Amino acid sequence: MTTQPTEPAGRTPITSAADIDLNDWDFWGRPDEEREHAFRLLRDLDKPAFFPEPEFSLGGITGPGYHALVRHADILEASRNPEVFCSGDGGATNIPDLPGEFAEYFGSMINMDDPRHARLRRIVSRAFTPRMIKQFESDVDAAASRIVDELLETGSGCDFVTEVAAKLPLKIICDMMGIPEKDYRFVFDRSNIVLGATDPEYVSKREDIAHALLTAGMELQQLVQDLAALRIETPTDDLTSSLVNANIDGERLTAQELGSFFILLVVAGNETTRNAISHGMRLLTLNPDQRRLWLEDFEGRAPRAIEEIVRLAAPVNYMRRKVTRDHEMNGNLYRKGEKVLLYYWAANRDERVFDDPLRFDILRDPNPHVGFGGPGPHFCLGAHLARREITAMFRELLRRVPQIEAGTPERLLSSFINGIKHMPCEF
Ligand code: HEM
Repeated sequence: MTTQPTEPAGRTPITSAADIDLNDWDFWGRPDEEREHAFRLLRDLDKPAFFPEPEFSLGGITGPGYHALVRHADILEASRNPEVFCSGDGGATNIPDLPGEFAEYFGSMINMDDPRHARLRRIVSRAFTPRMIKQFESDVDAAASRIVDELLETGSGCDFVTEVAAKLPLKIICDMMGIPEKDYRFVFDRSNIVLGATDPEYVSKREDIAHALLTAGMELQQLVQDLAALRIETPTDDLTSSLVNANIDGERLTAQELGSFFILLVVAGNETTRNAISHGMRLLTLNPDQRRLWLEDFEGRAPRAIEEIVRLAAPVNYMRRKVTRDHEMNGNLYRKGEKVLLYYWAANRDERVFDDPLRFDILRDPNPHVGFGGPGPHFCLGAHLARREITAMFRELLRRVPQIEAGTPERLLSSFINGIKHMPCEF
């Protein structure tokens, strides 16, 4: 049974699905318990709620509206059927269609369909060779250990997000690509703008969002294209070299493709893993029994604990698909040109699939969450790396600072990313 959340003065309580407006920024500023309550109401509807499209400051084309897919079964089905629920034609990471090449410029293959998606995914996947992944793995462990050294040097605590959770994925992605340490901060600031542009901390005025996004994107592209020029002349063993020099099948990325792929990697690999680690720390603080359980057998329990963290964290709140033809799915009709939003955060709490879904249970098994996306061509390319990073971070934290506790998180104002911007920690 869920309890009715209490409302601060001035905020309208959500008592039925009719009170929910997913386009309203105030909705995304509500605390977790209220979001949980609202999405439960949406899951209990006979059919997915339909919303008009929000106004879009980037000049996107506003379409007929979107169905909010909040049940696990709907998300699996739509993910499996990319011919009907496509990621191209306006983009998977935004609600209104992005104009022209904008979607691919920012989203690379995440905003494409086959055959172009398949070609890019093939080239990129071949560059993630077993040797390269092995190399990342030892780098991940060493980087996590250094981050905890620095945490201990603070003596008593710090901002967990910026000083712990954000550092690991940023370093790993930059190292993978061959970006030197002096540029980490530059990449970090631009990735915050690309994914956090709707939060006033990153872009203070709404009318500046489009300009800020474009500038950040262009700066990231330039950084990696300059690097690519060096790697074409003198290849090394980094990912940039493998992507811009022809592989065994003679395929490689163009400078433009590399630039867009880099933006995707930076945003897809950085913010997501950072938020999973921050939410994980918060969950372990709120559930000391689960922390004790994990500490009793860290290695044995890590694989399930990590899945449980990603289930409840669901750092990517949704991905979008566009309906390519009239289609019936799980008893409901979807019309050509409409959109569907795959709300992973909501599906990961679907009581039809998960027992006591709000409980953090590091032994949960089975745990068929969709935090890394549903089954289909766009399933997260970095899931293996992300699991490795989260494990390494908690191995170091729980062994060396087992008493560490997280304070109250400061949430990112975003409907797309379930983010924590800042969170104090102490030990
Ligand atoms: C906890 C961490 C992560 C989460 C929750 C996450 C989540 C997701 C989700 C939900 C998608 C599916 C998109 C769709 O179906 O439309 C996705 C795709 C993707 N992710 Fe991740 N991700 C994480 C970490 C990473 C990392 C570390 C990398 C890279 C180093 C990465 C790279 C990608 C890429 C390139 C795609 C696009 C795949 C395609 O379109 O074929 N992700 N991720």
